[in-house]
Amino acid sequence: MSKQHLVIFDTTLRDGEQSPGASMTKEEKIRVARQLEKMRVDVIEAGFAAASPGDFDAIQAIAQSVRESTVCSLARANETDIRRSGEAIKSAASGRIHTFIATSPIHMEKKLRMTPDQVVEQAVKAVGWARQFTDDIEFSAEDAGRSDIDFLCRVFEAVIQAGARTINVPDTVGYAIPFQYAETIRRLIERVPNSDKVVWSVHCHNDLGLAVSNSLAAVLAGARQVECTINGLGERAGNAALEEIVMAVRTRADIFPVETRIDTTQIVPASKLVSQITGYPVQPNKAVVGANAFAHESGIHQDGVLKHRETYEIMRAQDVGWAQNKLVLGKHSGRNAFKTRLAELGIELASDEALNAAFARFKELADKKHEIFDEDLHALVSEELVTPEQEHYKLVYSHVCSETGEMPLATVILNVGGVEHKALAGGGGPVDATFKAIERIAGSGAELLLYSVNAITTGTDAQGEVTTRLAKGERIVNGNGADTDIVIASARSYLNALNKLHSSLDKVRAQGDI
Ligand code: KIV
Ligand code: ZN
Repeated sequence: MSKQHLVIFDTTLRDGEQSPGASMTKEEKIRVARQLEKMRVDVIEAGFAAASPGDFDAIQAIAQSVRESTVCSLARANETDIRRSGEAIKSAASGRIHTFIATSPIHMEKKLRMTPDQVVEQAVKAVGWARQFTDDIEFSAEDAGRSDIDFLCRVFEAVIQAGARTINVPDTVGYAIPFQYAETIRRLIERVPNSDKVVWSVHCHNDLGLAVSNSLAAVLAGARQVECTINGLGERAGNAALEEIVMAVRTRADIFPVETRIDTTQIVPASKLVSQITGYPVQPNKAVVGANAFAHESGIHQDGVLKHRETYEIMRAQDVGWAQNKLVLGKHSGRNAFKTRLAELGIELASDEALNAAFARFKELADKKHEIFDEDLHALVSEELVTPEQEHYKLVYSHVCSETGEMPLATVILNVGGVEHKALAGGGGPVDATFKAIERIAGSGAELLLYSVNAITTGTDAQGEVTTRLAKGERIVNGNGADTDIVIASARSYLNALNKLHSSLDKVRAQGDI
């Protein structure tokens, strides 16, 4: 039986970025987009152009640099949002506008304060506005999971007539149950006129832990696009995890009449990159990309796998990119080899100075840690990609005294907006003392919500990667820092978060009409 194509629409950079503190800089988004392109994702939802100038710039930059995937911008069903999206994707090799309006009684009445007739009219207008920019238009009925099926049929018929090519049926609040969601998709495809002229898409949230199951049930019912994110990142409990959808379809090719074009060996690198950039760690027992996903602990399992791998393994670790940890560079590698490897990873440093600074840090790291992996390079350049305007606070010096039975003492010198300041503080441990010394200088008053340390690679000489989540007022940011010395990694991550709080470029989320 010949397989149909299942479109993989990745929304890590849009819905994924809506996770608290997961906001990414433009440079970080470009790196993620390049990795998604390398993984052969069909559509990259690069952001929500009208949400902020920062979102707009990032979508525009991604549209300019990605050539193999369609680049998409989200827009509410109003003319301003759609125009911003159209402008942002203008230079894409293939660009899509994804416009949406809510269709559930509760959203229409309480949020939009619009009648069903007005919603249909607005949806049709939105598709009309989008057509001025591209033929590739996706329409989503927000909260379709709680919408009346007769009304959905009416809206979808009208937007298909107006020119929408992809019809998305989001389970916005993660309320659906697989058999019932599949039935909804099946009935929509049966009932909506011209349903065979469009691609039916699903977008599931994970509030009941059913996002992947719902998406797969919908594929069996005829959906041919799945919207998903790397590591299942996303609002609240997240979105359907791309790696789980792709591997389920591939592993159970006997059940699914579809195939994707994803290069599955790029899944683990993508997972690590997104986790590193957003500071959202991957739980060890997470399917496909968790550190234990292919580890066998019990003697019986180990024995079985050694005798015949398929006794306990349904996928091969190397097929999803595990054990691809290449020893990329070493102490004797030159600047050119370093630059070439960065380019292969989709990393471009803005200037020769930035490249020189990153290369100097690479040499320092290679002295401390003999084997340098791709993950180390990503962590290392993360700091060089921060522009001077984004770096109000800079670590100049840090020293910690820690001995048995004594309170650890930290001395820190920071460069704050060009002026050096020094502070000394004691704390419960060396990291606590360092953070207190930083706060003596910065006086941010931010609340520390999360502090986590992960080893980037194996071995005691591995770089520690630290994530710090800070909250101030309404804003929550994540900071990252990496070093073989975890106190320094911690200081860098704390300062990275402070710089994000300080940055005026940080977005103010779009609110208001439609
Ligand atoms: O969850 C949702 O409904 C969305 C839409 C904008 C597609 O993210
Ligand atoms: Zn969503």
